[in-house]
Amino acid sequence: MVAIDGPAGAGKSTIAKRVAARLGFTYIDSGAMYRAVALWALRQKVDTGDMHRMEQLAMAAEIELSPGRIRLNGEDVTDAIRTPEVSGGASKVAVIPGVRRALVAKQRAMGERSSVVMEGRDIGTVVFPDADVKVFLDADPRERVRRRLEDVRAAGEEIPESALAAQMKERDQRDSTRADAPLAQAPDAAYLDSTSLTAEEVEEAILKIVRSRVTNGKDFS
Ligand code: CDP
Repeated sequence: MVAIDGPAGAGKSTIAKRVAARLGFTYIDSGAMYRAVALWALRQKVDTGDMHRMEQLAMAAEIELSPGRIRLNGEDVTDAIRTPEVSGGASKVAVIPGVRRALVAKQRAMGERSSVVMEGRDIGTVVFPDADVKVFLDADPRERVRRRLEDVRAAGEEIPESALAAQMKERDQRDSTRADAPLAQAPDAAYLDSTSLTAEEVEEAILKIVRSRVTNGKDFS
């Protein structure tokens, strides 16, 4: 089990997918699950501040992750969860302890079914505190905005850089300061700054940590 946590735009998805492919593990994007719950709430016009209803929604949500796709209650929502509105909504619903409880239970069940590389904000701290390998992936805020802008443009959309920077700053702030499972580096996580590294270099650095665990005789799965 490999846990990768960090802020938006640090490169978690790219790296977690690559590391999972190299190890033959299942890649799990826990953020996509918070996004799916937020999307459902937005569509149903449920107030994302209504803790009780949001918890019920998170418990009832049938979320299926398959390589590169996510389904919510049977519908493919892979593209629908990537809008700025859903990004903001996800970090709002992620503050609610009942929503986190429901999704953490689903994430743990996925981790029990197979060997996984899971990325998010609280994977090494809360979801899998006993993960074999924990990485906190970070990057300079300006570089993180630049990368996210590239993602947005690759999806054929446009947003002023200053607006995107403000949205990311607000979300990082909310994620890092919430009371329940804030974004934080686990004490035993390796800190990696990807600002001036290529994806290959970050991937190799993580695989090196994995190999060192294996040669130390730990049972790695
Ligand atoms: O890809 P990006 O970093 O922009 O965000 P994401 O990983 O898709 O996560 C969206 C939001 O879900 C985050 O801003 C967090 O508020 C929340 N989240 C969380 O609270 N815990 C996780 N393990 C993963 C995501």
